[in-house]
Amino acid sequence: MNNIQPGILAEETPLARYLAFGLKPGSDPRAALQALAKTIDGENTVVGLGQSLVMALDRQIEGLKTFPALSGPGFAVPATPAALWIWLRGDDRGELLHRARGLTRTLADVFEPEQVIDAFQYRGNRDLSGYEDGTENPEGEDAIEAAIVSGRANGLDGSSFVAVQQWIHDLDRFEAMPQGERDNTIGRRISDNEEIDEAPRSAHVKRTAQESFEPEAFVLRRSMPWADDKQAGLVFVAFGHSFDAFEAQMRRMVGADDGIVDALFKFTHPVTGSYFWCPPVSGGRLNLDALGL
Ligand code: HEM
Repeated sequence: MNNIQPGILAEETPLARYLAFGLKPGSDPRAALQALAKTIDGENTVVGLGQSLVMALDRQIEGLKTFPALSGPGFAVPATPAALWIWLRGDDRGELLHRARGLTRTLADVFEPEQVIDAFQYRGNRDLSGYEDGTENPEGEDAIEAAIVSGRANGLDGSSFVAVQQWIHDLDRFEAMPQGERDNTIGRRISDNEEIDEAPRSAHVKRTAQESFEPEAFVLRRSMPWADDKQAGLVFVAFGHSFDAFEAQMRRMVGADDGIVDALFKFTHPVTGSYFWCPPVSGGRLNLDALGL
């Protein structure tokens, strides 16, 4: 398929900047979206639209919805919907800043910036806990099958649904755990990244083992660490041909299936949660046909 925003399938870049926008009350987003579509190739910049924005256009994208808030013992998985999500990919922080400024200006009449997160790669593809992230990601055709819509109407094929959550780690707490407990939290040994067969059922990879769901729940994860002067964590980003796989995993993580909570919650928790639809591209530009634009 050559109509997929290529940044979805590509390896993560060394740096990224995530922008989330709200829609200014009473505004008509059509012109701004058309202007945006012309400047987005889907490779350096991946774009997703939230449910409220699609509704403002008086349209529907089947499968798009608002992120479902969940909670578990002592923690919340909040829903923080946004109208528009922009994932700027690159390797030069100054250049990312200027691209973000340019896009924010293009959108300024109708879209309000709500959140900016600078993200980066840590020792290859590691989370700040030190564990490799993305090992069990599907690749090649499997990645396309997991993440990309196909067999639907023109304007939908090649698109993707993305779940985005900002997680804040308590790294002091994590580092205070003995090494064995840390490995059992993830369910993999940090020394060689091998899966620990006898890890407790609360281990993160036991909770989320994609083949263990019925139907199987594969997603394409493109998460990246983030940090500011006070806090640090992970921007969790998972693409799917629907939100079903993500939702099945998230529900099992919070213990909604069997009362067992993912051990990750011992040291980290999400503070945002949003769903977006990432349109296809055609001719190197965003294709907004499905929205009548
Ligand atoms: C702070 C949050 C998170 C951290 C630090 C984290 C970290 C990790 C690590 C280290 C792995 C093992 C290596 C790999 O296969 O990638 C993993 C696997 C995985 N994670 Fe997470 N994760 C987080 C949140 C989530 C969330 C919210 C979901 C989905 C709701 C999720 C879904 C998965 C899946 C599907 C796998 C692969 C499981 C398998 O099939 O073996 N993760 N994660």
